[in-house]
Amino acid sequence: MKTIAVFASGNGSNFEALAAACADGRIAARIALMVCDKPGAFVNERAARYGIPTFTFNPKEYPSKADYEREIVRRLRAERVELICLAGYMRILSDVVLEAYRDRIVNIHPSLLPAFKGAHAIADAFAYGVKVFGVTIHYVNGELDGGRIIAQRAFEYLGSDPEELEARVHAVEHPLYVETVAKLVAEQ
Ligand code: GAR
Repeated sequence: MKTIAVFASGNGSNFEALAAACADGRIAARIALMVCDKPGAFVNERAARYGIPTFTFNPKEYPSKADYEREIVRRLRAERVELICLAGYMRILSDVVLEAYRDRIVNIHPSLLPAFKGAHAIADAFAYGVKVFGVTIHYVNGELDGGRIIAQRAFEYLGSDPEELEARVHAVEHPLYVETVAKLVAEQ
């Protein structure tokens, strides 16, 4: 049984997909910690519902990013976390976390990378007028949405409703993240 941490900043639907899969055995791992940089984010309620411990912090209360990341690493080590899954964590990690967990951090991104990097990938792809959308899961390095690709899934969307598109993206994300993390923990 592996020990993982999930980092999230917002709604937390991907966090919940992973939490549900760990709870029912589809992923052979335990989520030891949910790390969140937004005290009011809905993901905190989801974690409470699953009884998953959280480290939720306000970055402004720390002198620097290195300071709060050192605190994160301290807590990850205390829980013996082996793999970090970023699930809508909208901050770029610095070397403090990257070096502590080299090759053991994965991210889910709502586009077919290397297209549409950044925080507004779905809106950017929609505005561009692409017809094939998708999701990428990749290892995390120091570059924004960079790092070796682990899995991708594409789908065609010809509609004109941004909310419907976003729902389609999430519907692809959840099973893909669960399948991919299940494979990673089985291989490790
Ligand atoms: C997801 O669509 C995820 O791919 C995206 O944030 C959303 C979080 O949704 N991540 C990025 O854009 C990272 N660059 P959720 O909080 O419901 O899981």
